[in-house]
Amino acid sequence: MSTLLLDIRRARPGDGEQIANAHDASWRQAYCGIVPHRALDRMVRRRGEEWWERAISRSTVILVAEIDDTIAGYATLGINRIRSLAPDGEIYEIYLRPEYQGVGLGTGLFLDARIELKRRRLKGTAVWVLADNEPAIRFYENAGGRAIAEGFEQFDGEKLLKIAYGWD
Ligand SMILES: CC(C)(COP(=O)(O)OP(=O)(O)OC[C@H]1O[C@@H](n2cnc3c(N)ncnc32)[C@H](O)[C@@H]1OP(=O)(O)O)[C@@H](O)C(=O)NCCC(=O)NCCS
Repeated sequence: MSTLLLDIRRARPGDGEQIANAHDASWRQAYCGIVPHRALDRMVRRRGEEWWERAISRSTVILVAEIDDTIAGYATLGINRIRSLAPDGEIYEIYLRPEYQGVGLGTGLFLDARIELKRRRLKGTAVWVLADNEPAIRFYENAGGRAIAEGFEQFDGEKLLKIAYGWD
């Protein structure tokens, strides 16, 4: 029998390649058929290893979920970008590689991201999700989130509805 070691920790220099791979696989799976193909491909390619290494070396807060030596997914967080919304904090992104979804890792990352926001004295959490991303919406509703705002995101001329979920 083998024992798997799960660690949720801050990203460090050298993680860029694995985070870029997780980002690539997760975004293509989550948004295929939702975001126009060319826009999705452009967004994924823009965020290669170097982009992530730069993000790690700047002040961006990136948490990674690591199983043994594999980065299964990541979350980024910080101050809520829309100051008119009640939550002070925001989880900007939370993405797992497809093969690591559905086994509780997302819940672990989400809870640790919320703890990290609280540690930074940011009260409440917001997350934006595309309305067509039904599995993610179920995940946020299951985690007790309430829809608090709506907006639109434009991808290659296609306007997609997005919803903000909030937690106190
Ligand atoms: C959304 C995401 C982060 C959730 O993480 P996860 O590890 O798959 O979810 P968990 O295994 O922790 O699931 C937590 C709960 O949500 C439910 N859930 C998760 N994914 C679900 C799905 N696709 N459909 C229905 N319920 C789902 C689970 O049943 C579980 O409920 P339980 O605790 O009562 O058993 C992950 O699936 C992911 O990376 N998805 C693709 C990228 C994405 O859409 N990110 C969000 C962008 S806004």
